[in-house]
Amino acid sequence: MTEIAKKPIKITETILRDAHQSLIATRMTTEQMLPIVEKLDQVGYHSLECWGGATFDASLRFLKEDPWDRLRKIRDKAKNTKLQMLFRGQNILGYRPYGDDVVEYFVQKSIANGIDIIRIFDCLNDLRNLETAVKAANKEKGHAQVALPYTLGDAYTLEYWTNIAKEIENMGADSICIKDMAGLLLPYTATELVTALKETVKIPIQLHTHYTSGVGSMTYLKAVEAGVDVIDCAMSPFALGTSQPATEVMVETFKGTPYDTGYDTKLLEEIADYFRPLRDEALESGLLNPKNMGVNIKTLIYQVPGGMLSNLTSQLKDLHAEDKYYEVLEEVPRVRQDFGECPLVTPSSQIVGSQAVMNIVGGERYKMVTKESKDLLSGHYGKTVKPFNEEVQKKCIGDAEVITCRPADLVPNELETLEAEMAQYKEQDEDVLSYALFPQVAIDFFKYRDAQKTKMDATVADTENGVYPV
Ligand code: CO
Repeated sequence: MTEIAKKPIKITETILRDAHQSLIATRMTTEQMLPIVEKLDQVGYHSLECWGGATFDASLRFLKEDPWDRLRKIRDKAKNTKLQMLFRGQNILGYRPYGDDVVEYFVQKSIANGIDIIRIFDCLNDLRNLETAVKAANKEKGHAQVALPYTLGDAYTLEYWTNIAKEIENMGADSICIKDMAGLLLPYTATELVTALKETVKIPIQLHTHYTSGVGSMTYLKAVEAGVDVIDCAMSPFALGTSQPATEVMVETFKGTPYDTGYDTKLLEEIADYFRPLRDEALESGLLNPKNMGVNIKTLIYQVPGGMLSNLTSQLKDLHAEDKYYEVLEEVPRVRQDFGECPLVTPSSQIVGSQAVMNIVGGERYKMVTKESKDLLSGHYGKTVKPFNEEVQKKCIGDAEVITCRPADLVPNELETLEAEMAQYKEQDEDVLSYALFPQVAIDFFKYRDAQKTKMDATVADTENGVYPV
């Protein structure tokens, strides 16, 4: 066994992305972020996660903001810190596999607008779904980090994790992240996993967890002792619960040890002071639900991410079948087994969750089957770690064709078509990418943007004429 060198631990700050995505439905606005970016930039973080995931969709759909503009504004104020985004493999930030040309163009534009580190993952850990994005990031001289959604099950042995880590290194990734979206990684398991990974690959290992099950900071402690290179934390006002362990807590924990971050506590305090009123505001408006802030031990028992639990609750409410909650929770692992023991992360978490609801509410397993379940069972999301349950597959898709190739091989290049469809709204090159991801939402946003501009032009004209609007 190699001796693990003890070195200062690095931190990725998630307050501008995962923290508010997990706690307040991704509703932090650019205006709320900008006044504090310069201070965040002085901390000395390994990186600042600020883009991707659900932020893109939420900006366009709910906040009526251009996500590209947000990225450029943050970049402007963060002169020293690397900016990081989350990227869903071939699905980019959307829900279907895109043509390779769109994936490449998105990566290129993300980096051109200020992203340094792209964290790329696939819900099935099918590495073929990551290849195009990783290669594109390499080509654009960005940092390509491959994230592995962490899950439990017979197939997920230490050997599975170390083998796949080796493949990722060979693929040309610059680092690996263990993405524990449900908070399933327990402290002593973290010791084993990180030790094994550090012995297998040379590229840095980062750990991402959520506090949902209450073990997050203990898991980080053991992972750091085992040699993990970077941990993901959120400033305390938007930490814990369904978000990450708190930055200040981890910084204090390692003070005076070889893992000391050296961050300025006073500066962190000022940053926390800035975010605390935003938290109070969110609590008052109901945007921040106190239910998301405690320990939810069900995530450990049923092995499902916190976000999935709340989705199930609302689906059952819509169907007036709230009394079926526990039956559905017990059905989730069975569906997951039938579906090749896949990790539960966007979009597989939604597919398995919805199917479990149908199996219970419909009174018969797989009597009703969603389109997404059929797509998954016919190979259109990629290869699962275990084979599908053949009986279930047959009942759901009958004799339909099952594909085994990389799903995107069946998606032709599509940038030109997309450009033609949205040409009349185009104001910047990046607009076609917003449109590719969320066509209707983007068009609505473009129209809104146009209307705002017309309004502003009118105001300027009035002012020039000496007429001041009240
Ligand atoms: Co996360």
